Amino acid sequence: MSIEINRLGIVGAGTMGAGIMINAAMSGMDVVLLDRDADTLDRARVKLSRYLDRQVAKDRITKDAAAAAGARVATATDMSALADCDLVIEAVFENLPLKKAIFADLERVVRADTILASNTSCLRLSDIAADLTDAGRFCGMHYFSPAEINPVVELIQGPATRDDCLRAADAFLTRTGKTVIACKDQNGFALNRFFCPYTNEAVHVLDQGLATTAQIDAIARDRLGLALGPFAVMNIIGTATNLNAVRNLGALGPFYEAAAGLIAHGTDNTPWQIDEDPAPLDPQTADQIGERLENAILLPVVEELAEGTATLDAIDTGARMAFRLGLTPGDMLKRLGPEGVSKRLGDFATAYGHPAPAPVV
Ligand SMILES: NC(=O)c1ccc[n+]([C@@H]2O[C@H](COP(=O)([O-])OP(=O)(O)OC[C@H]3O[C@@H](n4cnc5c(N)ncnc54)[C@H](O)[C@@H]3O)[C@@H](O)[C@H]2O)c1
Repeated sequence: MSIEINRLGIVGAGTMGAGIMINAAMSGMDVVLLDRDADTLDRARVKLSRYLDRQVAKDRITKDAAAAAGARVATATDMSALADCDLVIEAVFENLPLKKAIFADLERVVRADTILASNTSCLRLSDIAADLTDAGRFCGMHYFSPAEINPVVELIQGPATRDDCLRAADAFLTRTGKTVIACKDQNGFALNRFFCPYTNEAVHVLDQGLATTAQIDAIARDRLGLALGPFAVMNIIGTATNLNAVRNLGALGPFYEAAAGLIAHGTDNTPWQIDEDPAPLDPQTADQIGERLENAILLPVVEELAEGTATLDAIDTGARMAFRLGLTPGDMLKRLGPEGVSKRLGDFATAYGHPAPAPVV
C-alpha cells in the first residue's frame, strides 16, 4: 500500500511544533496545528507570519507564496480537528504518560490509515507505543531545533512500525526538504548518542582541571572542524536540556554517566563562562584533549554500528548536517583503521569502567 501525506496534524504548538508547522506549510502541506493553550497557538501564528515576512524581505519567496503558505495552516484546540490528517506528529512536553494519553486520544479520532509519529528526544518509542491498538503505523520523527531551519530529521523505526508507513514517513520528510537519518529505537537514537558524550567528555576534561572552557572549545574547533566548541554549543542548547539528554544515555553504561560539572551546571541551568582569547595550551596536552574528544564520539559510534542502530553513512550525514562536524566519525574510523580504533577505544573505555567495544571490521 502506498500512503501519500498531504495533510499534516501536529499536537503541541511550542518550540518544536511551531517549527515543524512552518517547515510543512512552506513545503505545500495543509497543516492543522493543535495545542491545549490558545495563546500558544497565537504565538505560533505570529512566528509563522514573521518567518514568512523575512522570506519575502530576502526575496526567497513571493508575497503570494507567503500568503498561500499562511492560508495552509489551521489551528485547533479540539482533537477532532485532526480527524482527516494523513500524518499526525506529536510534539507535547517530554512526559511519557502525557504522550501515551495523546496517542490514545488520537487513535480514537484519526482514520485507520493515518500515520502517527512522536518527536520525542529521550523516551523509548516502545514505551510510548506500549498501549497502542495499531503500533504498526507508529514511528519516531526526531526534528532538530530550529525545526523550520535544521535540515536533519531522524526517522526512527518503532517496535512494530510497518514498512509502508516508514516509506510514507520518509517520503513526507524528503518532500519537506529534510535529510532523513534512518535509525532504530535506541537511547539517543543515531546522533545524540555520540554528540552528548562528546559534550560530556569536554566537561570531564574541565572537571579534571586540564584546560579551561575556552581552551577546550578552541581544541574542538581546530581538531573537529567545528564552528563552535562544546561549551558554546551547550550554552545555546541550555545546560539543563543538555544534562537531560546526557542522562538519557546513562542506561547504556558507565562511560555515558553525566560528568559532575554538567550535573552542577545543568541542575541550575547555569551557562558556562567562556573567556575570550584563551592562552594556547602546550601542544601535548592539546593533543591529548583532542584525542579524548574524538574518542568520546567514536566509542558510541562503534557501539551503534555493532548494535545496528544506524549505518555509518547515516551517522556521517547527520554529523555533517545536524552538527556541522568537519571531521566525521567515518573520517576518524578510516584514518585510524580497525586496529588503531580498538587500541584507542579499549584504553578509553576501560578508564571509565566501560566494556571495550567489539573490534571494528
Ligand atoms: N526543544 C528542542 O530542542 C527539541 C528538539 C527535538 C525534540 N524535542 C522534543 O519535542 C517535544 C516538544 O518539545 P518543545 O521544546 O517543543 O516543548 P514546548 O514546551 O515548547 O511545547 C510543548 C507544547 O505542548 C503543549 N501541550 C502540552 N500538553 C498538551 C495536550 N494535552 N494537548 C495539546 N498540547 C499540549 C504545550 O501547551 C506546549 O505548547 C518534546 O518531546 C521534546 O523532547 C525538543
